[in-house]
Amino acid sequence: MGIRITPSVLNADLANLNAEIARIPSCDAVHLDVMDNRFVPNLTFGLPVVERVRSGTDKMLDVHLMIAEVDRWAPGYAEAGAESVTFHIEASDAPVKLARQLRSLGARASMGLRPATPIEPYEDLLGELDMVMLMTVEPGFGGQSFLDIMLPKIRRTRALLDKTGGDIWLQVDGGISAETIERCAEAGADTFVAGSAVYGANDPDAMVRELGRMAKAATKCC
Ligand code: DX5
Ligand code: ZN
Repeated sequence: MGIRITPSVLNADLANLNAEIARIPSCDAVHLDVMDNRFVPNLTFGLPVVERVRSGTDKMLDVHLMIAEVDRWAPGYAEAGAESVTFHIEASDAPVKLARQLRSLGARASMGLRPATPIEPYEDLLGELDMVMLMTVEPGFGGQSFLDIMLPKIRRTRALLDKTGGDIWLQVDGGISAETIERCAEAGADTFVAGSAVYGANDPDAMVRELGRMAKAATKCC
């Protein structure tokens, strides 16, 4: 099982995104939080900004769509060259159709779950996905405290993903830091969003490497 650190730029300088991304060369992907003030009570940026970020970096782009009517908007992000697109299951009317569409456009298809959404009803969909993303805070804002009560869901999701026999990544998003990453890795997460922990550090790239080292040690992974 590989370990990936995918920092969120939400708490970076949003007016200088490509410069902020250049500060974290050790990251495995850049996590971009798209919010529409409907699905979540906050507003960030949309497709035009992601297109400009795409043209300024070769890093893998991991787009996290916290938007309503996601079936309508998500394919545009794949067309813009995002390698991974996460849609929230709570916002999708036709998740299987959407996942297939994202894959046909060349992106990894990822399903996100809010903290109160259980994974079990979606077991039969897992084979359609390249990643499951579990929110470990209520989506909408960076800098919130990690919800420990999500650890059992991480474990149950890992068990379901292992059952599929495929290589489906398990991402956690919200409150991930040097204080919490080991618990998440032990529970079975392999892909870690960290926003304020990375961009609040004196040396963001050193923090990316440290988080990766801690997660690998916790899973005894390569
Ligand atoms: C919150 C976003 C997260 C956020 C993480 O809704 O999805 O990606 O930026 O920030 P931290 O790591 O500060 O919780
Ligand atoms: Zn996010």
